[in-house]
Amino acid sequence: MTRADRWQLTIASDAAAMSELAADAVAEVIRATPEAVITVPTGSTPLHLFDILVARAHRQEIDFGRVHLFSLDDYLGLSIDDPNSLSGWLSRAFLRRIAFAPDRVHLIPANADDPQSAALEYDRALARQGGFDIAVVGMGENGHVAFNEPGSDASSRTRVVDLTPETVAQASAYWGNRYPIPARAMTVGIANLLEARRIVLIVSGAAKAGALQRALEGPTEPSTPASLLRLAGPRFEVIADRDAASLLSVVDAR
Ligand code: GLP
Repeated sequence: MTRADRWQLTIASDAAAMSELAADAVAEVIRATPEAVITVPTGSTPLHLFDILVARAHRQEIDFGRVHLFSLDDYLGLSIDDPNSLSGWLSRAFLRRIAFAPDRVHLIPANADDPQSAALEYDRALARQGGFDIAVVGMGENGHVAFNEPGSDASSRTRVVDLTPETVAQASAYWGNRYPIPARAMTVGIANLLEARRIVLIVSGAAKAGALQRALEGPTEPSTPASLLRLAGPRFEVIADRDAASLLSVVDAR
């Protein structure tokens, strides 16, 4: 394998630097492709990235006007007004702040009457739009990506999934354990992500160091879904802060 066939790892000094680099990647894609199809994760990791993207949009350094966004995942059966709804969260944390055109926002249909067929239709809509130009994703402490839990394979597509107890516990903690979390969700699949022209995994904090080590230095296998992203070769970039990268034994082993 030549170096050009390999995925990329950048270790940023801290979460702020990680977020700047991820924002640069998003900006670069949108500059090259004004109608780019993008996705961004939910959770704590992307919050500063959103602040940077919003600030750059307000300074007219990035034009989201023609960009399409497909969301990654949401809990099954929740209305957008539910405090746990990731669609609602994404709208508040990012989309509304840049007045993202509603007809260009494609929220995963986790609240559909018939979730299975809605998931298939979501996949078709994503394919019609040409797939992701850039997929920015985060990672759970068990190595999940979006809601692709351990056991998800590289051919998985948008579907309904069962969440692991640890993911439910992690998610419940987000709002201080105030609201019960549904144990099922809808998520785009690993195959949808692997088809992206650019995949950027952002990881910060020491709590993710073990998962990142497994994802980058362990075997590529469904027990650590993030490891499967390495199958995208040079289209896969990891931006980790120093704490998250602290267990990587050979930084250049990729
Ligand atoms: C949830 C989301 C993922 C996210 C993960 C990590 O499970 N479905 O998309 O990447 O949490 O969240 P955090 O960044 O808060 O650690």
